[in-house]
Amino acid sequence: MRVLVTGGLGFIGSNFVRYILQEYSDVEIINVDALKYGSNFSNLKDIEDDGRYSFVKGDISDYRLISELVKDVDAVVNFAAESHVDRSISSPYPFLQSNVVGVFTILEALRKHNPDARLVQIGTDEVYGDILKGSFREEDRLKPSSPYSASKAAADMFVLAYARTYGIDAVITRCTNNYGPYQFPEKLIPKTIIRASMNLKVPIYGTGQNVRDWIYVLDHCRAVDLVMREGEKGEIYNISSGEEKTNLEVVTEIFKIMGKSDELIEFVEDRPGHDIRYSLDSSKIREELGWKPEHSFKEGIEKTVRWYLENEWWWKPLADEKVLHATPWKLSW
Ligand SMILES: NC(=O)c1ccc[n+]([C@@H]2O[C@H](COP(=O)([O-])OP(=O)(O)OC[C@H]3O[C@@H](n4cnc5c(N)ncnc54)[C@H](O)[C@@H]3O)[C@@H](O)[C@H]2O)c1
Repeated sequence: MRVLVTGGLGFIGSNFVRYILQEYSDVEIINVDALKYGSNFSNLKDIEDDGRYSFVKGDISDYRLISELVKDVDAVVNFAAESHVDRSISSPYPFLQSNVVGVFTILEALRKHNPDARLVQIGTDEVYGDILKGSFREEDRLKPSSPYSASKAAADMFVLAYARTYGIDAVITRCTNNYGPYQFPEKLIPKTIIRASMNLKVPIYGTGQNVRDWIYVLDHCRAVDLVMREGEKGEIYNISSGEEKTNLEVVTEIFKIMGKSDELIEFVEDRPGHDIRYSLDSSKIREELGWKPEHSFKEGIEKTVRWYLENEWWWKPLADEKVLHATPWKLSW
């Protein structure tokens, strides 16, 4: 099987590439990445000499390049995106370019050059907006709050339209908050571990009561693999662990593992439009494709803390003042 992975030098994409190469011997992966914010060659340092893997520097909105790359693949898995909500608030334009125009370009390239290939569009729970009680199902209406989630929702609409109008073999996954190895240090969990390891104050937005469902990145990767192979054309699959935690609970759990005092917590000004709670009903992928997460939050977060503490070489060059800033949405990038 030949798979074009986009954004494979980012957090989830790199975990997916490594997972697929470890799971299957008869697979070839081409990774196209524009080396934007969030990308890091160190994420795939351990597999860069694997003969089944190749890297191409390029942008998913480059129609010529993507047309060439999709020609003889069986599947495209699109992880490439501007992914950081705070950055979409201070600087929204790149989000439109990568997350909407980029997806449109992949769809056009597939339509013209390889209409039978499968497309897995990696979406997000953020497209539904927040929900105080209950959980969103795949058919629920979309109500994005940030420029990031609006761009991801727009991409989903294009994918569904191309599946319906042109018969493109596309599927969409919508996953909750990922955590695990190789996550850019600016996100809540790595930032907490890194700052706490330096005995620096750990910033939490508002009162820390925002709730997210947290999934260990390899559980997400297994789900994407399953959807790529067995998902129904034109369908959407929610992916969630069911482990809902407030930001405050996440941080205090990390402190407990690291033996740190809660006095390191510093509540800082909330970001605008901060959704209160996300929650997904993932019974469709569980019942139809037989997926379930293999890591409890406790297991996943213990592994994650250990990984960051043991892999300082990976995060040290990335963890500058800007990246570890308390309110990144206030910075101009
Ligand atoms: N991180 C999460 O918790 C989460 C949850 C649900 C869904 N997602 C989705 O998963 C995908 C991956 O997220 P991530 O956290 O790994 O992001 P990331 O920022 O770590 O990685 C994104 C990668 O895409 C590349 N990229 C960006 N724009 C590109 C373009 N125009 N052309 C080619 N490459 C480009 C970047 O260089 C980077 O390597 C995104 O689509 C995101 O919306 C993430």
